[in-house]
Amino acid sequence: MTLRISVIGTGYLGATHAAAMAEFGFEVLGLDIDPDKIAMLTAGRVPMYEPGLSELLLKHVAGHEGSTGRLRFTTSAKEAAEFGDVHFICVNTPQRKGEFAADMSYVDTAIDDLAPHLTRPALVVGKSTVPVGSAARLAERLAALAPVGEAAELAWNPEFLREGFAVQDTLRPDRIVVGAQSERAEQLLREVYADPIAAGVPFLVTDYATAELVKAAANSFLATKISFINAMAEVCEAAGADVTLLSTALGHDERIGRKFLNSGLGFGGGCLPKDIRAFMARAGELGADQALTFLREVDSINMRRRSRMVELAREQCGGGFLGRRIAVLGAAFKPNSDDIRDSPALNVAAQIQLQGAQVTVYDPKAVDNARKMFPSLAYADSALEAAEGAHVVLHLTEWAEFRELDPAELGAVVAERRLLDGRNVLDAEVWRAAGWTYRALGRPS
Ligand code: UDX
Repeated sequence: MTLRISVIGTGYLGATHAAAMAEFGFEVLGLDIDPDKIAMLTAGRVPMYEPGLSELLLKHVAGHEGSTGRLRFTTSAKEAAEFGDVHFICVNTPQRKGEFAADMSYVDTAIDDLAPHLTRPALVVGKSTVPVGSAARLAERLAALAPVGEAAELAWNPEFLREGFAVQDTLRPDRIVVGAQSERAEQLLREVYADPIAAGVPFLVTDYATAELVKAAANSFLATKISFINAMAEVCEAAGADVTLLSTALGHDERIGRKFLNSGLGFGGGCLPKDIRAFMARAGELGADQALTFLREVDSINMRRRSRMVELAREQCGGGFLGRRIAVLGAAFKPNSDDIRDSPALNVAAQIQLQGAQVTVYDPKAVDNARKMFPSLAYADSALEAAEGAHVVLHLTEWAEFRELDPAELGAVVAERRLLDGRNVLDAEVWRAAGWTYRALGRPS
């Protein structure tokens, strides 16, 4: 009999995971406490912008013409508990207000809501990013609350998907890591992931703590790589060198690699910033804080990029923002996403506005979200409209459409042809040839 899978929490991680499980051929039930989200998903609509996800949902959500009908959604934890053989926990673990530590309340609640209804053997699989040690604690909680006791088992299976590539990363991840305590848990997960395993995706079995740490370590490494190149950008700026050429040259060394060596405004989003902070907090609790003090520096280098961008914009405005119009291209924390959590672009836009400039923001997908969070900024429907009358144009999220902008066309509507490229991806020569002053972080003026 094919396994039945429930997915608890249908945000971008859970919604994608649920659709992928249906694509692998399983019967899937997605559970969320938010009835609006469940209504949307049931209608085959995705509550966020994620390329390819709505197509995958429509292919499987029950009730849609031509769908496999393998995927349904509910708000009832009891229904999910009774339905599933394997239950994936995909709720978020945001940063706690005023602290570095992760807020585990959604994970705890997910277990508390599910466990009392587990009346037959079940495997609960955590995917959320959690402080190391959580799985051991949650396994006990699960067994204590479930009527089947220890036959309700826990495994930990961290998720490495990137927003914007969520579907492909879920169907064909780089690796599958499973923290499991029994042969049965491992076998069930081998069955769940039979499709990617058959395609050659490595399947690694570890203890709980190592599985939890793989995720924290991977995100810390990525954040460190970005902050490393951004630190080099600071030195390049002081020395009159060009960080983009430096990245290319470093990247040819296979031990270093060119990926994640793009210097610019730094990292944001719902994962890297909060995950490195939660990791530091957890290491502190474990008495290993010294091991991660470098992550503080990684965080500071990253935050300094935003202030440096504001400074550069002020310089371009002649030393002050009063009476100046600034066009901001990009609001999402990265391209191909409408996610604005800890978005470097919006942080810079808000700082500049606070200092007296009139700021107009354009983003291909994230304007609606940005407007809710930053209602006092002005928004435009196109890059051209945002640039009208601008004294400086700031390119802060590297959407492909910004690379296609015509410098002459944009030049015709601005007050002054001044461009700051916060992502180091526009062609400086082309913009300069069209009469623009092109400046970027970590490159000579
Ligand atoms: C990240 C991890 O990549 C993923 O494995 C994990 O599961 C969740 O966190 P995500 O937040 O979706 O994924 O975005 P990612 O593509 O990693 O980019 C993170 C941030 O780093 C973005 O703000 C991006 O603009 C920035 N970045 C990335 C750089 O500044 N330079 C780079 O070279 C790469």
